[in-house]
Amino acid sequence: MGKGSTNSLKDQTRPFIKLLRWALYTLFPLTLLHLYLYPFGFLHTHHPYPNRVHRHKPVVFSSQVLKAGGFIKKETPCDYFNGKWVRDKAGPLYNGSSCSTIKDGQNCLRHGRPDTGYLYWRWKPKQCRLPRFNPSIFLSLLQNKHVAFVGDSMARNQLESLICLLSSVSSPVLIHRSGDDNKFRSWHFPSHNLNISIYWSPFLVKGIEKSDTGFNHNKLYLDTVDDRWAADLDQMDMLVLSVGHWFLHPAVYYEKESVIGCHYCSGLNHTEIGFYDVYRKAFRTTLKAAIDRRGGSGMDVIVTTFSPSHFEGDWDKAGACPKKKPFKEGEKTVEGMDAEMRKIGVEELEAAIAITRKKEKVTGMRLQALDVTKLALMRPDGHPGPYMYPFPFANGVLERVQNDCVHWCLPGPIDTWNEILLEVIRRWKVQPSRNGGSMINEDETWKDLRLVNRRGW
Ligand SMILES: *[C@@H]1O[C@H](CO)[C@@H](O)[C@H](O)[C@H]1NC(C)=O
Ligand SMILES: *[C@@H]1O[C@H](CO)[C@@H](O)[C@H](O)[C@H]1NC(C)=O
Ligand SMILES: *[C@@H]1O[C@H](CO)[C@@H](O)[C@H](O)[C@H]1NC(C)=O
Repeated sequence: MGKGSTNSLKDQTRPFIKLLRWALYTLFPLTLLHLYLYPFGFLHTHHPYPNRVHRHKPVVFSSQVLKAGGFIKKETPCDYFNGKWVRDKAGPLYNGSSCSTIKDGQNCLRHGRPDTGYLYWRWKPKQCRLPRFNPSIFLSLLQNKHVAFVGDSMARNQLESLICLLSSVSSPVLIHRSGDDNKFRSWHFPSHNLNISIYWSPFLVKGIEKSDTGFNHNKLYLDTVDDRWAADLDQMDMLVLSVGHWFLHPAVYYEKESVIGCHYCSGLNHTEIGFYDVYRKAFRTTLKAAIDRRGGSGMDVIVTTFSPSHFEGDWDKAGACPKKKPFKEGEKTVEGMDAEMRKIGVEELEAAIAITRKKEKVTGMRLQALDVTKLALMRPDGHPGPYMYPFPFANGVLERVQNDCVHWCLPGPIDTWNEILLEVIRRWKVQPSRNGGSMINEDETWKDLRLVNRRGW
């Protein structure tokens, strides 16, 4: 066939090809979005027991079975706790140069971390597939909403991951900043009128943090919610709570303005009561405040579960968290303090769900645990370690160097927290039940690492 005839054939078919292209380019993404949001949308039915959907299992995946007389949804739980890290060629959606929000201490590649293998893993839950984070879907689902992250530096770590993930498709505008070290910030995504904020509140309840100049222990008022974030409760549509590590520090605890005990407080004449019950009470007070004040107007609550640290030796020795790969399945189990902290978060969330079911006035409030403890535990390779500072070995390997084996590199494993968060929100949409399940997270500065390590954690 000559060149001319090929061209004329092309000319004839061009309009069809154009139409076909248009159809593919337009309809295909729409179909994908639809399938993503409503995997079984073509069988839409209402769940007969909307309020019981998430009773025991934190996260529920919907599938359907045909019953005589019609389609009835059958709930198949997807437990994000159970799973394994598998190799993934895709890699992160952003990097340390493309996202400007990353805290220096967590921008590992920029600080000279030489290995990149830790960026190529994805979490594979046993019971379901966890899709790669899709920023466009997140933005559409949370259009016209205000999402507030409240907690310690782990909350901040998760928030910064989310901002970076979303920045890959839509540019945020920083609209508020206050407090030292960027403790309170808000971003606005004009494309979707979505606001995302971070509130520093390492205990959730009212607390006075120890300082170099003041007392050397924290003071916690367990029956009073911290007004630094709670003052804005009325303006929030989704609350993501992430606390934990700060509870290990020396502290004196108050209820009704009197001391009920303390922790790690030799020298003070108070009874040592540990921090587990205190952690529980902090959640109880917080969740109660959220239900009392927003239960009637449909705010959603996510609790990110405890994220374990990975110190293998002294916090100030070069190899404090030297691993380059995740633990293999079965190599490590959630135990001890990690297990206890996770359990408290999940239990208090479930107790809150039970309260919302009993209360007449509570409508449309969904609560869910973001159960990241296991997947975090399996990632000793995802921390900044010595790369919390730029090029720590530029002058040779030093005897002593600070290590961060608590927070996560960005990009890094913590991006998966937000993948699960998106799944949770998506399932809420697919299945608008009254209540959900749960998830958690945490934080710290290097000063605190010393203490954590000293105590064998
Ligand atoms: C970071 O991401 C941007 C945008 O995707 C890309 O252009 C750039 O090459 C990346 N930089 C590195 C160091 O990978
Ligand atoms: C986000 O913040 C901007 C600026 O304060 C405000 O105008 C807008 O109404 C907020 N949107 C939401 C959904 O809260
Ligand atoms: C410690 O508390 C006990 C009981 O409240 C009190 O009897 C004792 O005098 C206190 N000791 C000191 C050193 O304050």
